[in-house]
Amino acid sequence: MNAIEVELLAKEYQVFERKPGLWGSIVSVFWREWKNVRAVDAISFGIQEGELVGFLGANGAGKTTTLKMLSGLLTPSSGSVRVLGFHPWKREREFQRQISLVMGQRTQLWWEIPAQETFRLNQAIYGLSEKEYSQSLGELVEMLDLKDCLSVPVKKLSLGQRMRAELAAALLHRPKILLLDEPTLGLDVVMQKKVREFILDYNRKWKASILLTSHNMDDLAALCQRVLMLEKGKIIYDGSLEQLVRRYAENKVIRMVFEERVSPVQIAALGARLDSLGTSALISVPRSEVSKKAALFLSSFPIVDLTIEEASVDEIVRTIFSRA
Ligand SMILES: Nc1ncnc2c1ncn2[C@@H]1O[C@H](COP(=O)(O)OP(=O)(O)OP(=O)(O)O)[C@@H](O)[C@H]1O
Ligand SMILES: [Mg+2]
Repeated sequence: MNAIEVELLAKEYQVFERKPGLWGSIVSVFWREWKNVRAVDAISFGIQEGELVGFLGANGAGKTTTLKMLSGLLTPSSGSVRVLGFHPWKREREFQRQISLVMGQRTQLWWEIPAQETFRLNQAIYGLSEKEYSQSLGELVEMLDLKDCLSVPVKKLSLGQRMRAELAAALLHRPKILLLDEPTLGLDVVMQKKVREFILDYNRKWKASILLTSHNMDDLAALCQRVLMLEKGKIIYDGSLEQLVRRYAENKVIRMVFEERVSPVQIAALGARLDSLGTSALISVPRSEVSKKAALFLSSFPIVDLTIEEASVDEIVRTIFSRA
């Protein structure tokens, strides 16, 4: 049985539609027109125990809405969702004890008090014995390197420290299902790496099923073998990240280093420019034109070095979204 089983799941929000202009505003006072926005549009997928899956999609694609339905924060408009056999929207106690939703941009920690006080509160909420609590906390403090942060009021923690404390609070009860919404948002590169390593450790150690959204391609590349891609509420891809990259990698990247400064305008005339420092440039070129373009660049610019590379995941995903 899959840990998470979703079938034709959909969510519609009712939003108030404002008519444009002054007259529209006046009319709106008396006459409200509501419109349905289909944020999640009949998606189906399954996630096994211990699987770590990435959730990919442009802004507004429906990722957070889906995670909220999986965690029971939102009731589906139609379709079915089962998590560990439970209906999340019923919010049964046994279900709550086995799941956690962490949102990078929102905190469950109490701002004015030290994180360990919130941990104590969660101990009570989840009914952990003193032994379970201290064992679990000990592990998390070790894995997340939290020793020095526990007794400091949360408002005085750095973003990276707070995010790690956040994860600890969410995982004290050792949930089997972990939903992460942008866990590395705003973190510096070192901290991103720490958080990623932790997620992977937690996944391996407890065979937890993890579904995470991220706009950070490094997260997905490091963590997820499988990705689900959402577009306007629909799943448009479900498979390995590797294959996604291969399927959509229509472009290659030509990297050049020049002997002297070359004007960016001159470079732009030759192809889509990804990056240019004057003395070096990164240019995206369709696969079929690579050799022709490379020859052109070599004859047009004072080139010291030229390499041809596969496009990065980041760039590929950008291409897919911009086409959509
Ligand atoms: N509470 C709400 N009321 C009305 N519409 C909403 C609500 N929450 C989300 N939406 C709409 O539903 C759609 C999906 O939003 P959602 O937050 O799930 O997207 P997302 O993929 O998480 O985007 P992002 O990458 O920006 O976080 C969007 O069109 C959004 O405007
Ligand atoms: Mg979101």
